[in-house]
Amino acid sequence: MTTPNGKPSSPLRAPPHILALLERLHTLSLAQEPETNQAISGLLELRKRDPAEGTRALNKLMSDKFVALDKEKCEFVYQLILSTGAKNVVEAGTSYGVSTIYLALAVGQNFPGGEGGGGEEDQGKVIATENEPEKISRAKGYWQEAGEAVTRHVELREGDLLTTLQKDLPEIDLLLLDIWTPLALPTLKLVQPHMRRGTVVVTDNTVSAGPLYEDFLQYVNDPDGPFRSLTLPYSGGLELSVFMP
Ligand SMILES: C[S@@+](CC[C@H](N)C(=O)[O-])C[C@H]1O[C@@H](n2cnc3c(N)ncnc32)[C@H](O)[C@@H]1O
Repeated sequence: MTTPNGKPSSPLRAPPHILALLERLHTLSLAQEPETNQAISGLLELRKRDPAEGTRALNKLMSDKFVALDKEKCEFVYQLILSTGAKNVVEAGTSYGVSTIYLALAVGQNFPGGEGGGGEEDQGKVIATENEPEKISRAKGYWQEAGEAVTRHVELREGDLLTTLQKDLPEIDLLLLDIWTPLALPTLKLVQPHMRRGTVVVTDNTVSAGPLYEDFLQYVNDPDGPFRSLTLPYSGGLELSVFMP
């Protein structure tokens, strides 16, 4: 949809240097995609024949790739955070920190903290997770470039998220699962005890990677389970699940 001045509509409110940074990062990420996708399909075949070697090669290939969440999906999650008044967000899979910037801006706009004399506990927080040291360092650099509007709302947990998310989680309002598919269900189950009625879970590429999400999709669509789920028609599919125990 375009606005009357011909620009695409966007809910995002941020200073010009952050908007320019996001444009730059999405462009870099998109430029990597065709070659990366081609290499992935080859390695998925290899993984079927030789799971250990295929997994090793896939991890190596992806160790320096952006694979940022599409801009439209980032804007959707940003809008979702504003509309639900979310305060605490877990981002499973941070990479170079592109989606983190949207999440941090949104929780910061819901709960700026500090500004009204409130302390850290009064401010919105994104718990970001990444295990690739190079990506961690680049993400920190981009967040610094974005400035305080982002950095004051991000807590980065470095290392395997199945370990780093095991303790010190507040009540979580939104979980973004933008992670390798085998980790989606274990991560959901790890965060689930910290959810409240109405906590939202957004999971990327549940249509394009459908077969790899089989266990996850069964779990969130179980009519006797605690989630209600809907597949949104974004590119590759975006699953929107709500915790309703
Ligand atoms: C799809 S990318 C995330 C993209 C990011 N959300 C964005 O929009 O910029 C998934 C990331 O999860 C990271 N990852 C994979 N396994 C992980 C694990 N066990 N613990 C923490 N991070 C992991 C990968 O290194 C990769 O950077």
